[in-house]
Amino acid sequence: MLKGKHIILGITGSIAAYKAAYLTRLLIKKGAEVQIVITPSGKEFITPVTLSALTGKPVVSEFFTANTGEWHSHVDLGLWADAMVIAPATASTIAKMATGVADNMLITTYLSAKAPVFVAPAMDLDMYKHPSTQANLKTLQSFGNQIIEPASGFLASGLEGKGRMEEPENIVAYLENYFAKGQKYAGKKVMVTAGPTYEKIDPVRFIGNHSTGKMGYAIAEEFASQGAEVTLISGPVNLSCSTKINRINVTTAVEMCQAAQEEFVNADIAVMCAAVADYAPKQYSQTKIKRSGEMTIELVPNPDIAATLGAVKRDSQILAGFALETNNEEINAQAKLEKKNLDYIVLNSLADKEACFGYDTNKITIIGREGEKQNFPLKDKKEVAKDIVEYTYKLIK
Ligand code: CTP
Repeated sequence: MLKGKHIILGITGSIAAYKAAYLTRLLIKKGAEVQIVITPSGKEFITPVTLSALTGKPVVSEFFTANTGEWHSHVDLGLWADAMVIAPATASTIAKMATGVADNMLITTYLSAKAPVFVAPAMDLDMYKHPSTQANLKTLQSFGNQIIEPASGFLASGLEGKGRMEEPENIVAYLENYFAKGQKYAGKKVMVTAGPTYEKIDPVRFIGNHSTGKMGYAIAEEFASQGAEVTLISGPVNLSCSTKINRINVTTAVEMCQAAQEEFVNADIAVMCAAVADYAPKQYSQTKIKRSGEMTIELVPNPDIAATLGAVKRDSQILAGFALETNNEEINAQAKLEKKNLDYIVLNSLADKEACFGYDTNKITIIGREGEKQNFPLKDKKEVAKDIVEYTYKLIK
């Protein structure tokens, strides 16, 4: 999988830098071509001589070679790479990456790189846990960078906890997995709806629901990471997505329906994950409604977006929906699949603990057109997204 791949290995000033030599060796053994870019403090932990002996290439650290004045082009390096791996990544480098502080060759290369970026943090457990580090890692994820989570264990500080750089073997396995699945969905256009819709009553009030959008966002990210061109039609949520996703923000069901109809024309696959409000107030009050005893809000039905798309679906298109049920789960889900002309429906039950709204985990059953069922255990929503994306792949005609 890594044979012939051009990999930039960025090394920073952490005690875990000694593992970078072994990582380099493993990558080369797999047939990759490795170019090391090391920060000035990285060189305090491992010598460029060791690294260049392993890669057969000079290690890049400065913007130019002092005695000859030869300039090292971070732009060319960035374009050369099929992947950039920063291992170990210190809290300081992670912060610089998040904010674009381009004061060394590694960061300028990072900012120029077009290839996927993988970050393997290494630091003390309290530094890793600090809100600043966590916020910076979230920022990197929002750029589409992949974080190879540190492992738990003994740390150089003598403390024990999460912060130890992932072992080189596991970093290599992560990269191999990425390249193996990499472009499975290349050339496919995928549309995902996510989050709630807000139906306005007056300028300050609305009818909404508890959807956080986490499941839909995880699905959109997973399709994108497997090479699909993804459009995410999102209701109001407190989430960010990677820049490779085309995100369309909407508020109401009517807006979501309009955006979905426009996007569906060119989509190969549509996954309807949004918790769309079924009704909207008949009247919108331009001014804030004053309290005056008992009141009634008259509601009118919203369009059923999934059914609207189902009615115009072409044979080559795949349309998937979700069903959130409290009772008669499978019968209700099957009925929704038929009514909306879906190719499959993902059922989650409110009866399941730690599934659905607000949780990071979900437990699903996928029901196909012929009523065939596949049950999945309780998993992290990112893992659930992988199952859904995998299931979808089998349906591509
Ligand atoms: N859906 C939609 N438009 C709506 C309502 C639902 O696109 N106005 C989609 C959801 O995104 C989901 C599926 O239809 O994929 C089922 O949503 P759900 O709320 O469970 O079903 P409803 O059809 O609204 O049925 P009910 O609320 O009566 O259970």
